[in-house]
Amino acid sequence: MADRSLVMIRRELPADIDAIRAVTAAAFRTAPHSAPPVEPNGDPGEATLVSWLRDDDSWVPQLSLVAVEDDVVAGHVVATRAYVDAEPALGVGPLSVLPNHQRSGIGTALMHAVLGAADALDEPLVGLLGDPAYYRRFGFVPARPLGVSAPDPAWGDAFQVRRLTSYAGATGTFRFAAPFDRLSAEAVS
Ligand SMILES: CC(C)(COP(=O)(O)OP(=O)(O)OC[C@H]1O[C@@H](n2cnc3c(N)ncnc32)[C@H](O)[C@@H]1OP(=O)(O)O)[C@@H](O)C(=O)NCCC(=O)NCCS
Repeated sequence: MADRSLVMIRRELPADIDAIRAVTAAAFRTAPHSAPPVEPNGDPGEATLVSWLRDDDSWVPQLSLVAVEDDVVAGHVVATRAYVDAEPALGVGPLSVLPNHQRSGIGTALMHAVLGAADALDEPLVGLLGDPAYYRRFGFVPARPLGVSAPDPAWGDAFQVRRLTSYAGATGTFRFAAPFDRLSAEAVS
């Protein structure tokens, strides 16, 4: 059997913060879609977004997870407080894997881990904006047929939700944590 290195998923620790920024920046620098930087020639906006989320009331410390491979932070995912009208929900993202660690299952493992942790915390619903071809495998479905409107109607089926055990059918408009709006407002175009 080929050698396989150990990948461990755990909550972020204070010592991981710089590495998480680097992983997020590297992943989105090579991604087909990324947010413009907040500062001219700076990191992709997603790297700044993670820092803003960490300083925001929406931060859920149990739901910022790193994937560590051979003592290197190779991936990160975060879910933060969101709402469907007045009902609590979670927004997932950014999800990032270092380019030279991609396609080995780390993104999949991180997504399963954050969904399992959210379910264990009795969270009812997780929303995200992403490619349905990728997120379908985790049980995400287009939100609109469930009565959940995207923050921006132009997102169409790319705005998806994953129902968890406590889901009770909340309907209304999905609102991500405030730093997501700040990113749209402050990005350098
Ligand atoms: C998306 C990402 C997190 C996946 O991480 P990963 O560790 O490479 O994922 P896995 O190895 O678990 O799964 C890879 C599989 O997902 C597929 N995949 C990845 N992104 C996809 C997308 N946007 N649409 C369809 N499939 C996708 C790959 O084709 C691959 O499938 P294959 O193995 O059958 O070829 C990683 O590519 C990344 O960091 N991308 C840049 C940042 C980004 O776009 N994040 C997501 C939006 S928030």
